Amino acid sequence: MKIAVLPGDGIGSEIVAQAAKVLEALRREGLKIEMEYAHIGGVGYDVAGDPFPAATEKLALASDAVLLGAVGGYQYDTLPRPMRPEQGLLRIRQGLGLFANLRPALVYPELVNASSLKPELVSGLDIMILRELTGDIYFGQPRGMRQLPNGERQGFDTMHYSESEIRRVAHVGFKIAMKRNKILCSVDKANVLDTSMFWREIVTDVAKEYPQVELSHMYVDNAAMQLVRAPKQFDVILTGNIFGDILSDEASMLTGSIGMLPSASLDANNKGLYEPCHGSAPDIAGKNIANPLATILSVAMMMRYTFAQEDIAQRIETAVRKTLQQGVRTADIAEAGMQKIGTAAMGDAVVAAL
Ligand code: IPM
Ligand code: MG
Repeated sequence: MKIAVLPGDGIGSEIVAQAAKVLEALRREGLKIEMEYAHIGGVGYDVAGDPFPAATEKLALASDAVLLGAVGGYQYDTLPRPMRPEQGLLRIRQGLGLFANLRPALVYPELVNASSLKPELVSGLDIMILRELTGDIYFGQPRGMRQLPNGERQGFDTMHYSESEIRRVAHVGFKIAMKRNKILCSVDKANVLDTSMFWREIVTDVAKEYPQVELSHMYVDNAAMQLVRAPKQFDVILTGNIFGDILSDEASMLTGSIGMLPSASLDANNKGLYEPCHGSAPDIAGKNIANPLATILSVAMMMRYTFAQEDIAQRIETAVRKTLQQGVRTADIAEAGMQKIGTAAMGDAVVAAL
């Protein structure tokens, strides 16, 4: 298992260090795990003048999986766009062809009171958001700034989805639904956007190959509302890049903390990039208070999807559960009277439980 480890910026190095502890524990048991570190994001810019340095790209291409922390920091906000940390993330996703982004929103019984919604709305919640990750308005050309004939300046982007892009991610969605409750909701804005009308047509066509899956379509504004009104109606949500970006942040709050949400970004052969859904949180970087569980749970996803080691994936998830059951919490998920521990101690607690 050759893993490229890219801690990135902000809290990235602290949380990735905890996930690395889990990988090291597995290696001590005899798993053949090889980890090699490289830079991405702001630190890539600092060290190599590029948020996605050539050396990092080479390492990522030569690895089976990538473990990533987070990118971004205030000091980079004024750089020209190609040098911004976020470009590192977008380029590695596109460069590795990671079109299927899995963002599970799972409510642990221990954290049901940490959610911003009433416990009865979220207790037992288990949604899989599948976000297309390499197309849509994120990558569409042309884009930029232009001058209109009347002299006014205009910013513009292009939204488009090709048939093959929709088909391949839809197949992933239906296959995931087949392994779950066989309910798939495709989210779009087909009442306004041509791109979405086409999306709906293709998803409906792919559905014919999965007659056991119950397919529904929902407009994205309604989906945003339904997620906070009655989130348990969803099993798998399939959606495009920008809608998935927004809905997955919303869904994270159902689970109590964005610090709990892992993700997997897969190519056609299950090579994957694994990262927490949250950002680099520069305001709390270096303070040893960030929650490393989303990153540790991303390692579980890596074992499941890239290395097909379901047993190990479940052991890591169980270890996280046990740690929560012991009542230890990082600050973001702590309730009154509970023992608050730091990032490193949480990593140690999970390794001990493992
Ligand atoms: C995410 C993030 C990224 C995105 C940013 C940092 C470019 O918000 O992974 O959801 O928009 O995809
Ligand atoms: Mg986002």
